[in-house]
Amino acid sequence: MPSLRDAARGRILFGGDYNPEQWPEEVWEDDVRLMKEAGVNSVTLGVFSWAKIEPRPGAREFDWLDRLMDLLHAHDVGVVLATPTASPPPWMGAQHPETLPRSEDGSVVWYGSRQQFCASSPVYRRYAAALTEDLAARYANHPALTVWHINNEYCTHCWCDETAAHFRRWLQNRYGTVEALNEAWGTAFWSQRYDTWSEILPPRKAQYMKNPTQVLDFKRFTSDALLECYVTERDIVARHSPDIPVTTNFMPLWSGQDAWAWSAQEDIVSVDIYPDPKDPLGGQYNAMLADMTRSQAAGPWMLMEQAAGPVNWRGVNHPKPAGLNRLWSLQSVARGADAVCYFQWRQSRQGSEKFHSGMLTHAGEQGRTFREVKGLGAELATIGAAVSGTDVPADVAILHDWDAWWAGAQEGRPSALLDYTEVVRSWHRALWETGISTEFARPEADLGRFKAVAVPQLYLLTDAAIDNLVGYVRGGGTLVCGFFSGVADADDRIRPGGMDVRLRELFGIRTLHEWWPLDTDTTVECDGFRAGLWSEELEPERGTQVVSAYRDGELAGLPAVLRKGRAWYVSTLPEPEALRTLLGRVAEEAGARPVLAGLPADVEAVRRGELLFLLHHGRSTVTVSVPGEQVDLLTGRVVAGSVALGRYGAAVLRSRAAR
Ligand code: GAL
Repeated sequence: MPSLRDAARGRILFGGDYNPEQWPEEVWEDDVRLMKEAGVNSVTLGVFSWAKIEPRPGAREFDWLDRLMDLLHAHDVGVVLATPTASPPPWMGAQHPETLPRSEDGSVVWYGSRQQFCASSPVYRRYAAALTEDLAARYANHPALTVWHINNEYCTHCWCDETAAHFRRWLQNRYGTVEALNEAWGTAFWSQRYDTWSEILPPRKAQYMKNPTQVLDFKRFTSDALLECYVTERDIVARHSPDIPVTTNFMPLWSGQDAWAWSAQEDIVSVDIYPDPKDPLGGQYNAMLADMTRSQAAGPWMLMEQAAGPVNWRGVNHPKPAGLNRLWSLQSVARGADAVCYFQWRQSRQGSEKFHSGMLTHAGEQGRTFREVKGLGAELATIGAAVSGTDVPADVAILHDWDAWWAGAQEGRPSALLDYTEVVRSWHRALWETGISTEFARPEADLGRFKAVAVPQLYLLTDAAIDNLVGYVRGGGTLVCGFFSGVADADDRIRPGGMDVRLRELFGIRTLHEWWPLDTDTTVECDGFRAGLWSEELEPERGTQVVSAYRDGELAGLPAVLRKGRAWYVSTLPEPEALRTLLGRVAEEAGARPVLAGLPADVEAVRRGELLFLLHHGRSTVTVSVPGEQVDLLTGRVVAGSVALGRYGAAVLRSRAAR
């Protein structure tokens, strides 16, 4: 199977989305000159080129793309070539309105922006496949081609009639009979029973709350329907060029796509990460998404898009202060990225993204952003050979699952304040702050190689997942599980007792009497810490160790955190410092250690292969003690005993003994 290694060839890929169709051809020469200056060795071409290649149905205008492919190749810039199927031209919507998605209320999502296609539309699929076929036939053997990039951030949703028919086929495949569907969806409730398949619809706009299992299945279906589109195009390009790896870029922690299922269908896992420069924990966010993507890739991954400066889709779009782009890029590399790419190469002058930064901004080659990009390109070239292809070891797994997210994020739950991604982020943050490296895993994955497993909050767990967790602890593993977990089965049916009995036995919980969610800005005092968001009325079995009890409110005296041997249960969300202390204690007992002990605040240490990355997220100057004699690959200098890091500073150390 082709891989990122084939495309990177011992380098870190560096570059970005290149949209030359927005510029007169004279600019292209300037582009390649500046790309060379910046150390760009890879660009992503064609993402939004459908209307340019196929200006009217069936037309093919490839000459301009031929010239670009040749130009880039002549300058030794590799091409990640996109199938431009994310944004159909207006003619498709005008001539085939059934390709346009419909919202939950039946209204049409029109052209004039992008991504206006219904994944179930045979017409859309036919045009997309035909174009992919011709693109692949034309460029499969072009020497500039390094990676196929299918579509872009698959994310559309549609509730149209074509989708309804497709959804029914998907449901027939899942349930076989309408009776089985009625049983799974619990349609005895509110007179929702279906008599025939033809009555079943996507969960369209309704009078009151919708059937939750129907909504859950529709999310599963939508992810699968988009995946079918991806697989169709992937198979076409792979047939023409079996040695070229194929990817599609994810939005990370995006609810629309089960990235575990998708990544299994990719040669390269790639992702677009946009931390907010204003977020004091932007570095943690970047680390979390890097860890998640590396876990999906089971190795090195591709940062397909990030921003060199501000984006344009937040309320207030903050530029990156000097040094931050470099720091977060090196952090991505430390956490497994073998490609550091941007949206986009040259900032657009027209269209919706003219205030979104590029590597080359409106300020041009004299601009600070481009100067910093050039500096980064040179550094990545320096460390590329030592880094590329190497692994990032991690002893602790964080479990994350789309089904649990989809089922848990619906209406009618104990608290609308519960935000799954925020809980996952709190737990990752706690471990990140302890300096312990983490990976993500799905609940059914083989967990045997991890010293500890953390479950921030998995409302839905399949039987296989529960058996997996129980087996993991029986086999000697340490498990720490957050509140409101193991509540529902795969059909979103509440498990008897409100938490699966196997889990209650595992944690030593006799009865879960009630969930007691907390209001915004309300905290509850527990032994040793304060907590928020959630609490639970738990009755432990005799012999269960109460690690911390609630101290105030209705639950005073009842367990907040308990454990039975190596199985810990945390029934609330401790404040950040307390969660860090707790998870640090659990991990330490399990034998998981920080990468480097005694780090100053704001300094992150990551081991990748034989290298030690030190990343300073603060603005002061700090001194970090390091073992033995090391060489900082970024500067070539020998470091003995300690290294000083300035504002947003970084060092990439290799032990001299290791050489
Ligand atoms: C991504 C998208 C790019 C660009 C970018 C702006 O979601 O793939 O095309 O729009 O966002 O941040």
